[in-house]
Amino acid sequence: MPSVRKPAAAAKRSKTRPPELFRKLIAVAMDLEQRTMRLYCHYESVFPEFDEVRAFWFDMAEHESRHYGALAMVAGLLESAPERTLPAAPTLTRAHVEHIRTLLDQAEAEAKRGITLTRAFETALAIESSEIEDLVLDLLTALKGERERERAVKILIHDLGDLSYMIEKYSPNRALLAKGDKLIEQQVHRLRNPPVRRLASVPKRVGRRR
Ligand SMILES: [Fe+2]
Ligand SMILES: [Fe+2]
Repeated sequence: MPSVRKPAAAAKRSKTRPPELFRKLIAVAMDLEQRTMRLYCHYESVFPEFDEVRAFWFDMAEHESRHYGALAMVAGLLESAPERTLPAAPTLTRAHVEHIRTLLDQAEAEAKRGITLTRAFETALAIESSEIEDLVLDLLTALKGERERERAVKILIHDLGDLSYMIEKYSPNRALLAKGDKLIEQQVHRLRNPPVRRLASVPKRVGRRR
């Protein structure tokens, strides 16, 4: 797997990466998105008791496949114009990448041993709040403009809303529910940048089942 080396000072200065580094970052991100998609596919098959839960994991996996597709498109653009670069996720560091890689390593090992639904929810929450998702959002913005970013953030908020709803309905872990709701609030805050409205105005369960 390619490694990400970050020339910290240079990246901070320019907020862009050299094309070679950028290509490596895309390759790493594609690998992580694909692993996330596979993890959610696995969850879809190991919790068959409730159709609603199964449909939820199916949607989550599908959205990860779209992230993978968006990154594949960026990789294609870079292949056609090797000197091209995009100002994506300037704050994404190697530590962030390592963090999600470790998270996925653990999640995959746990999934093999067998996990509870609550633990699967907890893992999804950690993944969805990761900086890798930020990278996809940034790339979509750079490629297709601000409206595309808004659309992607809305989908993320929708997913988080569904995740919170699932936790509320199928897990006894109230702390996890609070964490999910906090994450929704953060994303809504981001969508409304600059934030002016109070969090109290945020619907608690954004986008229940479609
Ligand atoms: Fe993703
Ligand atoms: Fe995601």
